[in-house]
Amino acid sequence: MEVTTSPANDVPPGSAFDAWRVRVLERAEFDRLGIGEQLEYFAAFALLAPTTHNTVPQRMRIDRDQRSIEFALDRRAILPQSDANGRQATISLGAAIANTVLAAEAYGLAAAMVAHPDVEPLIRPADVDDVPIVSVATVSFDALASPVRDLSWVSAMVRRKMVRAEFDERVKLDPSVASELASITQSVHAGLALHLISDAPTLLALGKFQELADSTVINRTAFARELAEWLVDNDSDQPLGMRGREFGLSDDAARRFRHGLAGIGPLLPDETAAFAKAGNIGMRSSSAVAVVAAARDDVEHRLAAGQAFEAMALRLTLAGFNVAMHAGITEVEAPNLALRGRLRTFSRPLVVFRVGKPLNIADSERPHSSRPRLADVLRESGT
Ligand SMILES: Cc1cc2nc3c(=O)[nH]c(=O)nc-3n(C[C@H](O)[C@H](O)[C@H](O)COP(=O)(O)O)c2cc1C
Repeated sequence: MEVTTSPANDVPPGSAFDAWRVRVLERAEFDRLGIGEQLEYFAAFALLAPTTHNTVPQRMRIDRDQRSIEFALDRRAILPQSDANGRQATISLGAAIANTVLAAEAYGLAAAMVAHPDVEPLIRPADVDDVPIVSVATVSFDALASPVRDLSWVSAMVRRKMVRAEFDERVKLDPSVASELASITQSVHAGLALHLISDAPTLLALGKFQELADSTVINRTAFARELAEWLVDNDSDQPLGMRGREFGLSDDAARRFRHGLAGIGPLLPDETAAFAKAGNIGMRSSSAVAVVAAARDDVEHRLAAGQAFEAMALRLTLAGFNVAMHAGITEVEAPNLALRGRLRTFSRPLVVFRVGKPLNIADSERPHSSRPRLADVLRESGT
C-alpha cells in the first residue's frame, strides 16, 4: 500500500500511525490498479473509520472474483462491560463500511451492501470456545458510468478524527449543511431518523443526560477496569486503544487517570465527576447535537446508523467542523429513555454525537489515534 512521505501535523511518527499516511490517489492512478489492489485500497479507508474505544473490531476479506469485500467482527474485540450485546461494535462496523462505499463512489464504482441473516445472536463478546470471527455483511462493487462523489470525501476520511473538546457555542451550523445531514441519514436507510438539536434548553438537557450516563458507568468498577485496559500512555506505540492526549490529557494526567480506573492508583471522586462533567460541557457548547434514532434496534439498523454517522462526520469535516461521539447516553437505559422522552420519539437512539468547532483552536490539532496494519485486519480467503 502506498504511503505519503510528508505526514500531516497531527499524524505522529511511528508505525502505529502509518494508516493515516495513505495517499489519496488521482482517479487515473486508481484506474490503473488491478481489482484486487482497488479493493485493498478501499479496505485501507475502512481501517481509518472510528471504532468504539479504538478497538478496531472490523475484519475484511477481499474476493477479487466476486469483486466484493466481506466485513466481519472479531468477537475478541467486543467489550463485555460497555458493549455486552455488540451494539457499539456493529455501529463501528457500519462506519468502516461507509468509508468503503463512499470511497468507491468517489472512484467511479457503485457499492451495494447485503447484511448476512441470523448473525445477531453471534455478535457478542467471545467466550474461549467460540469461533472468534463472525461475518456480518458483504459489499459488492460494480463499475459506474462516472464517479458520483468528489474525491474530497476521501481526503476527509484521512483528516477526520474525534475532537473531545469544549466547542465554541457561538458557532452555528449552516442550515443547508443541517438539511444535507438529514438527507444523508435518509439515503442510508429509510428506518433511520435524524434529530439535530441546537436550541440551548435542549442542549442543556442532553448535557445532563450525558453526565448521568457517564457518571453511572465510570462508577461501575468493571466498566472502569475495562476502560482502563483501552487507555494507553501518550507515548505508547500500541496499535489499538486511546491515548489520554486524544482527550486533552497530559502524559501525567493520562497515566494517573488510567491507574485510577484500573484500581492501582487513587481516583478521587472529583476526578470521576470531572470526567462526566466534560461530556456535559461538551454537549452544551456544541453547535448541534445529532441523534440518529432507528425504527428497530437490530443489526441492519445498527450498521445503517454507523454508516450514516460516518457519512455525516465526513460531510462535517468538509464543512470545517469536528465531531465527538457519546455512547453512554445510548447504552445506559435511564438517560436513553430520558432522551427519547425529550425527543418525543418511540424510536431507539443508536448514535449520539456532538458537532462544533473547538473553543481553543489548539484542540483541533490533537494527534490522530493509532491503527493496526492493514494486513492485521485483512483475512485470507478460506479463513
Ligand atoms: C460506536 C462508537 C462509540 C463511541 N463512543 C465514544 C464515547 O462514548 N466517548 C468517546 O469519547 N468516544 C467515543 N467514540 C470515539 C472512539 O473512541 C474513537 O473513534 C476512537 O478512539 C478512534 O479515534 P478517531 O475516531 O479519532 O480515529 C466512539 C466511536 C464509535 C464508532
